[in-house]
Amino acid sequence: TITDICPQTGVTLSRYMMELERWNPELSEVESIFTSIQVAAKAISNLVRKSTLQANTGYYKGSMNIQGEEQSKMDVIANDVLKNALNWAGHFKTIASEEEDEPISSSDPQGIFPEAIIDSGKSYIAVFDPLDGSANLDSGIPVGTIFGIFRHGTECQLDRQLCLEDVLQPGRNLVAAGYCLYSSATTLVMTLGDGTHGFTLDETIGEFVLTHPSIQIPQQGSIYSFNEGNRWEWDQPIQDYIMDIQTGMGKQQNKYKARYVGSMVADVHRTLMYGGIFGYPADRTSLNGKLRLLYEAAPMAFLLEQAGGRASTGTRPIMDVLPTDVHARVPVILGSPDDVKELESYYEAVI
Ligand code: AHG
Ligand code: MN
Ligand code: MN
Ligand code: MN
Repeated sequence: TITDICPQTGVTLSRYMMELERWNPELSEVESIFTSIQVAAKAISNLVRKSTLQANTGYYKGSMNIQGEEQSKMDVIANDVLKNALNWAGHFKTIASEEEDEPISSSDPQGIFPEAIIDSGKSYIAVFDPLDGSANLDSGIPVGTIFGIFRHGTECQLDRQLCLEDVLQPGRNLVAAGYCLYSSATTLVMTLGDGTHGFTLDETIGEFVLTHPSIQIPQQGSIYSFNEGNRWEWDQPIQDYIMDIQTGMGKQQNKYKARYVGSMVADVHRTLMYGGIFGYPADRTSLNGKLRLLYEAAPMAFLLEQAGGRASTGTRPIMDVLPTDVHARVPVILGSPDDVKELESYYEAVI
């Protein structure tokens, strides 16, 4: 585990990846994948901090993404930065993004490497939300990037079309996942399936430094994080659960505090650090909630489970849900295991 490899905090992510590869040669590709991800994260962090100074705020008028959301300038810029970085990693055959209508077969942007080399070394799929919470950016509220890494199946070697369908994998198949939070600090939290670990960007050396080895979420918390503007549209079990934790009438018998940033990465990171429960449930208008399964819910669910937490739709583990399409949405309830289990018991009571 990470403590075997990097016993002390302060080790850089680059060194952690090199040590990991030394102990697990089969992870050599993961090392170069994370090199490209952390370069993109540093670049996006820089662009986010300077977006106001560089007139990169605001929206492309009328440019709707497939989600029906108006794209912010920084949505598009962050998407380009990540696509470029991942293409140059040379290990991705397919990438899917919130800001791309369809999955795209990645090829090197400058057309330098012949397709053959590209194809031989590429057996991974990257799914990502390049800028999460982007509607908050222009007001200085924290935003983030979310990513997940899958392996391609072998059938994809035969037919490019199969590669694109190969993107639709459940979270259980994730090889790696992570997010980068652009806030008071820039923090990259990742998992390879062997614990969830946090690295904080030290801008004086331009390196992510291990600050949170083997994160363990508190068993139970006292913070709930839901957009209560949707309250009267939520499923009844959610309404009953929230009422109980606000009045102290639930099993936990204590009143919870409300905290809601409106950027999933910020709300999930606080939940991971302090415990409690975050939710974007189904409601009468959005029957599957708002958050996208492939590149928001599933990577976050992987990180939470690896940190001893729980991530559910309210009735089943998010990591077991198979995406029906790239931008499929899913109800999200995640956080401390006792809190998520208590909320699930309100659904069990009505099923
Ligand atoms: P994105 O900016 O990538 O489209 O994601 C926004 C999401 C997520 O960050 C957050 O949890 C949720 O939208 C907030 O939605 P509401 O504003 O409806 O609460
Ligand atoms: Mn968006
Ligand atoms: Mn998002
Ligand atoms: Mn986004």
